[in-house]
Formats: sequence, structure tokens, C-alpha cells
Amino acid sequence: MPREFSYQPKAVPRVETKLRRIVTDLPAPSTVPVLETLLRYELRAMQGQPPILWDHAEGFQIWDGAGNCWIDWSSGVLITNAGHSHPAVVDAIVKQAQSRLLASYMFPNVARAKFIERFANLLPEGHRRVFLLSTGSEAVECCIKLCRTYGMKVGGRSKHIIVSFDKAFHGRTLGSQQAGGIPALKDWIVNVDPGFVQVPFPDGYRTPDASFEFFTRYLADHGVEANNVAGVMLETYQGGTGAFAPKAYMQSLREWCTGHKALLVCDEVQAGFGRTGTMWGFEHYGIVPDLSSWGKGITSSLPLAAVAGRPDVMDLHPPGSMSSTHTGSPVCAAAALASLDAIVNEGLVANARHMGELLHGRLHALKLRFPRIGHVAGKGLVAGVLIVKPGGKEPDGDLAWDIVARCVEKGIMMFAPVGLGGGTVKINPPLCITEEAMLEALGAFEEAVAEVVNR
Ligand SMILES: Cc1ncc(COP(=O)(O)O)c(C=O)c1O
Repeated sequence: MPREFSYQPKAVPRVETKLRRIVTDLPAPSTVPVLETLLRYELRAMQGQPPILWDHAEGFQIWDGAGNCWIDWSSGVLITNAGHSHPAVVDAIVKQAQSRLLASYMFPNVARAKFIERFANLLPEGHRRVFLLSTGSEAVECCIKLCRTYGMKVGGRSKHIIVSFDKAFHGRTLGSQQAGGIPALKDWIVNVDPGFVQVPFPDGYRTPDASFEFFTRYLADHGVEANNVAGVMLETYQGGTGAFAPKAYMQSLREWCTGHKALLVCDEVQAGFGRTGTMWGFEHYGIVPDLSSWGKGITSSLPLAAVAGRPDVMDLHPPGSMSSTHTGSPVCAAAALASLDAIVNEGLVANARHMGELLHGRLHALKLRFPRIGHVAGKGLVAGVLIVKPGGKEPDGDLAWDIVARCVEKGIMMFAPVGLGGGTVKINPPLCITEEAMLEALGAFEEAVAEVVNR
């Protein structure tokens, strides 16, 4: 559950290795005035993370300016795929800024053209029309709009249903939140659009029946006429758990969408740009969606998002009718090109795959030792470790938080637990993490779990 922190420094055991340093109480007393400024002026909702001041970050490490240093298992929130402050990304941002073009709205700029060309040519054939935006939620909203526009075109106004999945997270704006599958987060909407329907996600854990027949049966049982579905949208893996759908399920879903003239949308905001050990998350399923949304790791730094997809769908709206003030900001686009080049040229996708094997092997072994680890999911450098109450599947958000807090005290940076009941501890380091750092962080994580569970 969300926790409000005391910004009162707490005495913690000191840690000093080549890669981690905790040499003050936490938060470091010298950082407290800044934390208090934020506490005084920012909304409470911003207090959801461990109270550590981020002073600077490089590669897979973060410093607080008071002598403490963490191995990063957060990547911010899966942003810094190429690593924090990658020299080529920093350079590209500085060069673009010094060229004295910081914004150009929809007017053409070179940085935007270069990035779009590079990105599009890496995407699968037939999925190469790209629209740049600013945030993941905005990209998701755009996909919803395109699904409904396409649905109306091919099936009239009744073809407007957007099917998504239970426990999904697609963002916090009005449309993206309605496509999400966490009812408590939608309370504020009051009149949730009945045209948004969620079906159980085939994770094989909470939804034991992961067959595709369950999808069609579920729609029929809930009165959804298949021909009225405009789009089916899913996170390529569920951010709240790390769970992927079975490959056979996704291949059947691909066929079903084609057969029913419904658009298949993969929300790649978390999964894209190498995170899961493939460049794009949907490669694991051997399918190509009709639309995809992108964000987070797209720049490893500045805010940028994108929608990519079939040209006939992307071009449904006429010139000037889909826009965004900062579409393809030249500085963000320059950062995105440098980040993408770094991911490709430095073999970071393969590194994510290899480090992922190490990570998932150790986590599955840890699960056998600690029954309070109910489930481990993910691929490559994303893992969701579900912490449960004794003897069942009910998430234990408090214990999950204690594990995260203990890790931060040990010099492993992690964000607050996520997912149903706040029970999932997420592990997602920058893709440049080394084996040495991974092993050291895994050792500290295992200690933290043992200390907290055996307390
Ligand atoms: C899969 C997915 N889609 C969309 C979003 C929303 O992105 P943003 O926070 O950039 O609006 C997120 C953010 O966590 C996400 O994980």
C-alpha cells in the first residue's frame, strides 16, 4: 500500500563496496532541506517513493550528493534503458540545444526526421508509420482514438468497443485510465464509458485458464458482440506483475482481431527498446500488432512517446487534425536517436537477455526458499516478484514495501511496489548493467528478503 515517509533520517548499517556506498543515515541529513521543500509545495501524491534525493546518475548507478551510491534496479521507472546519462545521449542533447533549435511544434526539424527514419526502419514491415508525442498516456489515448476511428469506418458507430485486460495499466488520463484494469484507480471517473471492457489476463496464475477460448467465451458471456470490437489493447507484458500472455494465445488473438476487423494494439511503453531481451516486446509472440504505443525507454532520458502502426490506420485523420505541442521536440528526438543507437551498437538487447537469465534463475531459486514469494514473472531485464500473505495468493503490500525499503538501505535503488494490492516488487535495471553489479545486487536482494521475512 502507498506509504508516507518520514523525512527524519534513520540510522542504517553502513555499506561500502566498489559499486555501493551507504555512509550516512537515510535520507542523508544534508538532503533533508530539499526533501522538505518538496514536501511543503508538492501534492501528497508525489510522496510515493523512498525519500532519496537523486543528485546524479550514470550507467547503472545513482548518487545522492552526500556520498551515498546505489546500484539502480529502477531505471527511474524503466526510462534509462541505455543507462543513466549515457555520454552519447548527453552529447546529443547538448549539441541540439547549442544548435539553437529547442522547439518547432509540427514544423519539420532534422532531429525528428533522423529519429523517425531510424525507428521506423527497425520496426517490422507494414508497421512503419510513426507519430511522436510526449507521454505514454498520450500515446495510449491516440491508439484509442485510432481504434474508434477505424471501427466507425469499417463497421459504423456500434463498432467502438475497446477490449483491454484486468489489472492492466495504460496511464492516468481519462481514456488511458478507462482502458486500465484496476477498478480502484477509476473511481474518480464516476461515469466510466461502457465501451471499455476488460477481460482476464491469461497469466496462468490469477487466471488459471490461459486458453484463447476463454477470451471469446468471456466476451460472449458478458454480452460483447465480437463484431462491435474496434480494438484489443494489451501491455506486451503486464507492468503490475511482469506477466506475459502465452504465445499461442497471442497468435490466436492476432487472427481473431484480423478476422473481426478489430485493431490489435500492443502497449510497448514499458516493454520496448530492449527491455525484455528483444528489441520490441511483441517479438516474443511472433506477431505484429496493428498499432503500438511507446514511451519510457525511447530516449533513456527526456520525455518522448510515440505511436507506430499500419499506414492505413495511422493516416485516417487528415493533415493537421492530430497534433501535439511538443510532437518530436528536436531535443527529445536527438536524445532518442542517440539512445537507440547506443542500444543497438552496444549490444544492450543481448545483455538484457543474458542478465535476464541470471536474474530470473536466481529469483526462481529464491522463491523455492521463501513461500512468501508467491510468483515470479517477466523476461529479460524486467521481473515482478509477487509477495503474498501466508498460505495463499493474496498480495502482501506491507511486506513488499519492507523489502524495497531494506534494499534501498542496502544500496539497491528500487521504486515502490506496484500492481494489485501493491504486492509486486519490480526489478528493472538499466540494460547496461554488468554481471558483477547484477550478482552483487542479487546478493543484497536475497539478504533483504531473508531479513524481512524472518523478522
Ligand atoms: C504500459 C504503460 N502504458 C502507459 C503508461 C503511461 O505512461 P506515462 O506515465 O508516460 O504517461 C505506462 C506508465 O507506467 C505504462 O507502463
